[in-house]
Amino acid sequence: MKKKTIWITLLVIFIVVQLIPSGRPEVIKDNPNDLLLNNQVPTAVESMLRTACYDCHSNESIYPWYAYIAPVSFLVNRDIRVGREELNFSDWEAFNKVEKAKLLDGIIEAVEAEEMPMAIYPPLHPEAKLSTEDRKVLTDWAESFAESLFE
Ligand code: HEC
Repeated sequence: MKKKTIWITLLVIFIVVQLIPSGRPEVIKDNPNDLLLNNQVPTAVESMLRTACYDCHSNESIYPWYAYIAPVSFLVNRDIRVGREELNFSDWEAFNKVEKAKLLDGIIEAVEAEEMPMAIYPPLHPEAKLSTEDRKVLTDWAESFAESLFE
């Protein structure tokens, strides 16, 4: 095959892939059950949750431009869909105490083990990089918040 033919073939594939429905999770701005709306969360923690977690774990995801271009869009949309299924801060008040405590426990584990935010995220969102101290502030908060649920 000629080089030119290869490039044109790739271009056609790229364009066709753009036509596949991406299944982008919807953005909802009004979330009466939101965690941050209904609870007194320290400013430092609020800002970490918003910058490092809310894109995948709330209904208020902000989609960067590359999230609209296949095949990257498939990956971004999947992370957001699965992330919301596992933990959606926008639905926080709809969970009962035991569910909330379990989620907070999961947050402590995931943040301590540096599993969250997902490894791919901070390089693309430098403000979401959490230092060891940040992780401690976040997990200490999650622990005392979990305890306060049963007081
Ligand atoms: C780029 C998207 C993304 C970001 C940002 C992100 N998460 Fe996740 N999170 C996911 C996905 C996808 C899953 C489910 C699959 C998995 O566990 O990897 C998940 C799972 C979880 C779970 C369920 C337990 C587990 O480990 O499976 C917890 C808890 C969690 N995330 C907390 C957080 C917290 C806290 C932050 C912010 C510090 C955060 N995540 C940032 C995408 C994300």
